[in-house]
Amino acid sequence: MTPTVLEAINKQISNEFSASFSYLAMAAWCEHHQFTGAGHWLRVQSQEEHTHAMKLFNFVLARNYQASVTGIESPRGEFGSLLDVFESAQKQEQTVSRQIDGLYELAFTEKVFAAMAELQWFVTEQVEEEKTIREIVAKLRMVKDDPSSLLDLDRELGARAAEPTPGA
Ligand code: FEO
Repeated sequence: MTPTVLEAINKQISNEFSASFSYLAMAAWCEHHQFTGAGHWLRVQSQEEHTHAMKLFNFVLARNYQASVTGIESPRGEFGSLLDVFESAQKQEQTVSRQIDGLYELAFTEKVFAAMAELQWFVTEQVEEEKTIREIVAKLRMVKDDPSSLLDLDRELGARAAEPTPGA
């Protein structure tokens, strides 16, 4: 591993923890506003981001380098609507996809093949995450403020099962 790639992966560990905290703040807003299904969905997503951070953390250590954990900024905690929450989540995932792409490109440029193999999982995961959130945003835009449709959608989000830990 080169120092540049190590630094960039360590930075991504923080980015994933940051995403995890951000989803937790969104879950808090949703549950406080009685969207308990969306709150559940976001709690599961927060857990997933935690596993993403740990996957990179474990990778760095497995390559015999020191993983670092740094402070993260306070996430946004106030939203105007459920749509606002998920649009914010969508932007966040688009940002993470750019971060992962940049990291993958760096690993390629620096010829760190083990990191490329590890990051391949993240590239694929981002495609799935962006797709899932894009579909939720589209549905929320469709239902607008219709209470019964919003409640149906909230119930649907509440049925999300926790996913197994990657690499476990
Ligand atoms: Fe780990 Fe959703 O990015």
